[in-house]
Amino acid sequence: MTITVTLNGKRITDDVAPDLLLYDWLRQKGCLSVKCGCETTNCGLCTVHVDGKPTLSCAMLAVRADKKTVTTLEGLQEEAIEFGGFMADEGAEQCGFCNPGFIMNVLAMKEEPDVYTWTDRQIKEYLEGNLCRCTGYAGHLRAIRRYLAARQEGMK
Ligand code: FES
Ligand code: FES
Repeated sequence: MTITVTLNGKRITDDVAPDLLLYDWLRQKGCLSVKCGCETTNCGLCTVHVDGKPTLSCAMLAVRADKKTVTTLEGLQEEAIEFGGFMADEGAEQCGFCNPGFIMNVLAMKEEPDVYTWTDRQIKEYLEGNLCRCTGYAGHLRAIRRYLAARQEGMK
């Protein structure tokens, strides 16, 4: 089947098998930030943005991405580095396997319309699909709070 996808700002047309997962297609296209930890929608490592919304690429067929915009960490380098700095400052960086999916979820979260008014509970619930938090939930929350505060300050 032929699909046309805007991947990290580049329009790509490709022939894919009907049962090819979006995760596998993205890896084929060189997006090696996208990791697979479970293939059963439990770990969040394979999170990418589809039309701006966080999506588990292990749970979506590549054909479903036809005519959509897909973004991986490769397409959000500047924002990822910025948020990564807050994670590092809080001693909360994840390993290279877990980091991409977690960062992709946070970068999607910051686009939610009312995120600056969210409670800690709302933030935790948004991130509940990211299973591994080896470096600690409290450090992640501090980093996200400081990141959102800095962004809000920058908007003034
Ligand atoms: S690999 Fe997709 S949720 Fe675990
Ligand atoms: S195994 Fe990667 S941070 Fe937990």
